Formats: sequence, C-alpha cells, structure tokens
Amino acid sequence: MTTIKFSATKTDQAHFSGDLAILFVYQNKNDKPVYLKEGKSFLESLHKLGDFAGKEGELCIFYPEQVDDFKGYVAKRICFIGCGKAEGKNKLTDSLEKYRKIGGQIAKTAKQYKAQKIAVFFKSFEKTSIDDFAQALTEGISLGDYTFTKYKKTSTKDDEFKGITTVKYFAQDNSNKIRKGMQAGGITAIAARDARDMANEPGNKWTPAEFADYARTIAKESGLKCTVFDKKKLQSMKMGGILSVNGGSVVAPKLIILEHEPAKYDQTIMLVGKGLTFDSGGISLKPAAGMQDMKYDMCGGAAVLGAMKAIAAEKPAVRVVGLVPSTDNMISGSATKPGDVITHYGGITSEVINTDAEGRLILADALAYGNKQYKPDCIVDLATLTGAVIICLGHHNTGLVSNNDKLSELLIEAGARTGEPMWRLPLSKDYSKQIESTVADIKNIGGREGGTITAAAYLQKFVDDTPWAHLDIAGTAWNFTEKSYVPKGPSGIGVRTLIDFVKNWKKTKL
Ligand code: BES
Ligand code: ZN
Ligand code: ZN
Repeated sequence: MTTIKFSATKTDQAHFSGDLAILFVYQNKNDKPVYLKEGKSFLESLHKLGDFAGKEGELCIFYPEQVDDFKGYVAKRICFIGCGKAEGKNKLTDSLEKYRKIGGQIAKTAKQYKAQKIAVFFKSFEKTSIDDFAQALTEGISLGDYTFTKYKKTSTKDDEFKGITTVKYFAQDNSNKIRKGMQAGGITAIAARDARDMANEPGNKWTPAEFADYARTIAKESGLKCTVFDKKKLQSMKMGGILSVNGGSVVAPKLIILEHEPAKYDQTIMLVGKGLTFDSGGISLKPAAGMQDMKYDMCGGAAVLGAMKAIAAEKPAVRVVGLVPSTDNMISGSATKPGDVITHYGGITSEVINTDAEGRLILADALAYGNKQYKPDCIVDLATLTGAVIICLGHHNTGLVSNNDKLSELLIEAGARTGEPMWRLPLSKDYSKQIESTVADIKNIGGREGGTITAAAYLQKFVDDTPWAHLDIAGTAWNFTEKSYVPKGPSGIGVRTLIDFVKNWKKTKL
C-alpha cells in the first residue's frame, strides 16, 4: 500500500489518460438520473434498459472509446457512480457519510480493475459545501484503499494490486475549495491509517517500546514535544497502576506524552488512550478463543497518537496534550494477584479483584498525572475498556460516559460529522458505590451490572471536577459497522472524531 497523491486541476477532464475516471450521477425527484452534458444519451439508454438510474451506490463501468458521448476522452475506463438524490433534506452529516462511502466504493472498484491512476470529474448538486464534500470523498478513497500486508512475505505476487497511487480531482470551478478539503481529508485519513497500522501490528512486534519510538518519530517529523517515562521514572513517580499491570511482564512499561503547544494559547485539551499492547487477562486469565484479538487492546493509544500527528499538521490555537500509558498484561510469578492492593499516582488505593480489569488501572495513573501536570480545560479518554459495551451497543456506537453535558454534546457532534457515532450512558453516585472496597479506597470491578459505567466510575475518581469524557471503543475499534471505507480488522475509530473535535474547539467554558 502506497500513500495516495491527491491533486486538484482545472484542466480538461477529457485529457485524463489514467486507469479509471469517476463521474457522479444524481437522481431527480422522480428517481430519474440527472443528465449532465457528458454522456446524456448513453445514460438515457442505460436507464431505459433498467441498468442504471443513479441510485446511491449503483455503479456502471464502460470504455469511453465505445461510447459516442465520450468521443475524445482518453481515460482507460469511466465509471458512473450513483449518488442518489442530492438537493433537499439531506442533513450535512448524512451527506458527508454518503461521500465517504462513495469514496470507499471508488477504492474497491480501483482494486477490482487494478486501477492505480484515478480521476474524479467533480460536479456536485449537493448543498454540502464543496470543501466538506472533497474532504469526505478523500477520506473515503484513502481509508477504503487501506490494506495491511507487511507480514505477507512469501505469498505477495508480483501482479498483486499495490493500491491507488494518484487521484486527480477535475473541476472548472471551486478548485481552491476542493484543494482545501482534499488536503484536510488527506491528513485525517493518513492519521486513521496510521492508527490501523499500529493496531494491525502483532503483540510481539508492537510493544510499549515500539509505541514510544513511533511517538518520537511523530514528534521529530511534526515539531511536537515528546516525553517518555520509562519504568524507573514510573517507579519514582509512584505510578502504581501501570506498574501493577506490568507486574507479570518481561517487557518494560512506558508512559508516552506528546504535546502540541502553540506560541499563544488560552486553553488545553488533554487526550488519553489505553495502550495495552496485549491483554491476556493476567492471573484472571482470558479464555483462549479469540484471545489473539487482544493485541488490539492498544487502539485507544493508537487513536491518540494518530490524532496528535494530524493536530501537529493542522496547528490549532489550543494546546493539546496526548498521553498513552502502555504495557502488556501478562501472567507469571511476579504478576499482580486478585486481592492485591495497589496505590495509584496521587495516592488513591485500589483492591485488584480481577486482573483482567487492567485498562482502568493504567488509565487512572495517566489521568491523575495529566490532570495535575497540565490543568486541562477538558479531558477525553479512549479505551477498549469493557466487553460490556459490546453487549450494550453492539459494534455500531462507541459508548460515551461523562461528567459534563456540553463536552458530551461536542463529542457526539464530532462523531456524527465523522461517521463515528457515539451513545451516552449515564453516570451517578450509585455506580461509584458498586466499586467501593472494604480494604482499600476503591476496587477495580463493580460486578456484571452496568460494567461499562462502573469502569468509567473508576476513572472518574482520577479527574476531580475537570470536564471529562470517556469513550469506550471496545465495540468499534475493530469489527466496526461494515462500510466500504472500513475494512475488516481495526477501524482507526476515534482518530477523525478527535481531530474534528479539536479543529472545531472554540474557547469554551464547559
Ligand atoms: N480489553 C478488555 C475489554 C475488551 C473485551 C475489549 C472484549 C474488546 C473486546 C478489558 O481489559 C477487559 O478484559 N475487561 C473486562 C472487565 C471485567 C473483568 C470487569 C471485561 O470486559 O470482561
Ligand atoms: Zn482485560
Ligand atoms: Zn484490556
């Protein structure tokens, strides 16, 4: 897979000589195709035949030299893509998702025809502003083109499709706006693809050390500040949560911090991601079936690093700090045992009833430290934290638990714009009661009932009154809703939501 080069041009689309050109076709109120001057009689005959009406998701591939309407076009293939009805009630969020999905379809079609050089003949009848449209389409193409073949060394055939190389947007009008959207979409898509790459790496190749090295690389390339706390430093800072989860491991833990600090800023957003590089459950061992998926238990951390890379490129006027506590959760003679009592950063003690409820232990230290050190105006954490969220919301919504209504609203809006929906669950003292311990300040599980919320109630103890939202991405970080631009495996969830949230941040009193 190569990085796709996107560009916008005002030159004549007929001169595009690449592998595949895309032409959007809309439907009018009577479900008939809206004819453009290009291909009018051809479309008419296709419609009469009943083969193509411009319905959303419909495709028709043809060869321009065989179609009179396209005399003079030199593209190897042209593809009509149905966009359905354009004008009218389409909500912005719906139409952005439509163009991401169409982008995904373009990528799938390119793969089918091994088409590397693509063009889109841009014409929109949507109310969606053309830069948003271009961003969504760019994201869809780039995310739909994603594959991970790094470890397929012997079976890679020479003739295998290596991915799209160039996408040219042809547009006589608005090419500057298109370029702006295209650039924004390029940044968000690369960030999400990076997060997918990190998640696809197996647990033996992506340890806390690789996580930290990658953060350093991002920092070097983008000008972010990077700090990594190693095991010794974590010990001296008394980060008992991270250290206890790491107790059974032969691989050292890390706390990774990336900072985007503008020369002038008023407010600080803090992002925290669970970077558990493999979760065996520890002494409270998980069943063998499906345990391999627990290499994905670092998707929250990957989302934070991906988002930080994009934030470095976008340079918003707000300070953004990303923290990723990282370790694996292993089983050995030195592993934490059920019943052990640990002390978190800042002094709160916790009785570890179940060593498989480890995500909250590492997040607690990072939240408490970050909150004290950076005094953020808001905190957003992302974690593959509970199986319970999958029982609750399936694979179609991220679970959101928060102590602040306005922050929840802003995140839900960002999720809707980016096609990463969230659903808020309640939080109250009653849930905190479930994690009261008889021997320590709190215990790390609260029973089966409301498992996602009691996990959040644990985290809440470490943020004081700072506006905070917890995103449980256990159901959406992989096996997310099937879409043309979301492959099987890790989805990169959260990356685009975070970027959108930060870009739309206005000085706010939450
Ligand atoms: N990483 C898991 C949560 C998870 C489960 C993510 C399935 C994705 C798919 C987490 O560390 C965990 O094991 N949670 C336990 C908590 C329980 C012991 C209270 C769970 O959900 O079973
Ligand atoms: Zn676990
Ligand atoms: Zn876990």
